[in-house]
Amino acid sequence: MGERLKKKVAIITGAASGIGAATAELFAREGAVVLVADRNAAGAEATARRISPGGEQARALRVDVYEEADVQAMIRAALDAWGRTDILVNNAGVGSDMDIRSFTPDEFDRVLGINLRGPLLCCKHALPAMLDAGRGAIVNVASISSTCGIPGQSIYGPSKGGLLQLTRQLAVEFADRHIRVNAVSPGTVETPLIGGPVHDSERLSDEHKWLRARHPIGRFGQPVEVAAAILFLASDEASFITGANLAVDGGYTAQ
Ligand SMILES: NC(=O)c1ccc[n+]([C@@H]2O[C@H](COP(=O)([O-])OP(=O)(O)OC[C@H]3O[C@@H](n4cnc5c(N)ncnc54)[C@H](O)[C@@H]3O)[C@@H](O)[C@H]2O)c1
Repeated sequence: MGERLKKKVAIITGAASGIGAATAELFAREGAVVLVADRNAAGAEATARRISPGGEQARALRVDVYEEADVQAMIRAALDAWGRTDILVNNAGVGSDMDIRSFTPDEFDRVLGINLRGPLLCCKHALPAMLDAGRGAIVNVASISSTCGIPGQSIYGPSKGGLLQLTRQLAVEFADRHIRVNAVSPGTVETPLIGGPVHDSERLSDEHKWLRARHPIGRFGQPVEVAAAILFLASDEASFITGANLAVDGGYTAQ
C-alpha cells in the first residue's frame, strides 16, 4: 500500500469498468477512499467490493452523470460519508463512431450529454465544497480525439474537444483558489468501450489495425497505464500543474 493519496476523498465517475475501475483500484492502493460512481449499479458494486470488501475504503453509487439530481446526490454522498471531496475524476464516457453523413441530433445529445454535460455538472457541484476546503484536484478523461481528427468521430471528437477546453477554462478560473484542473488524453485503450482486449490479432478488426498502426509504440494501452497518469495529476506531486493535457497515447499525438 502506497501513500500518494493518503486520506484523500476521491469521486470517480464511470468506475464500474475499464479506465475508471483501474483508477479506483490504484487510488485505493495509494490510500484514498473512493466513491465508485457509475450508471451501472452492479458494476459499481463489484468494483467497490473488489477494492474494499468491508466498505471502509470504497463505496458504490448508481449515478447517471447526465442527470443533475444524480450528480448532486453523488457529491452529497461523499460529503455525508467522509466530510469532503478532494479529488474528482470525470471519467464516465461513451464512444460513438457516427460519420457526419449519418448525423442524428439524438446521437449528438446522447454523446455530448454524457461526455461534456456530465463533467460540467460534476464540476459545478463538486466545486463549492472544494472552494470551501480551499483545495481540490479535478482530472478529466479526454482523448486523442480532443486534438486530432479521426475518421468517423464527428460527434465523439467534439465532445472530447469540449472537455479539454472545459479543463483549461476551469483551471484558469479557479487556479488562485487552489483548485487544479487537468486532463489526460488516452490513445486507444483495451476496455469494453473498444470491444475489450483486442491484442489477439485474430480479433483485430480493420479499424483496430488502422488505429494500432497509428500508435508508434506498436500496441494499444491498458487501463492501468491511464490510471497511473490520472493518479499523478490528482496527487500533490502535480501541485504546480493545472490546465495541462497529459497524453497517454503511445506517441499518437507526437507525430
Ligand atoms: N478506451 C479507449 O480507447 C479510450 C480512449 C480515449 C478516451 N477514453 C475515455 O476514457 C473514459 C473511460 O472509458 P473506458 O474506455 O474505460 O470505457 P468503459 O466502457 O470500460 O467504461 C466507461 C464507464 O462509464 C460508465 N458510464 C457511461 N455513461 C455513463 C453515465 N451517463 N453516467 C455514469 N456512468 C456512465 C459506463 O457504465 C462504464 O462503466 C471515457 O470517457 C472514454 O471516452 C477511452
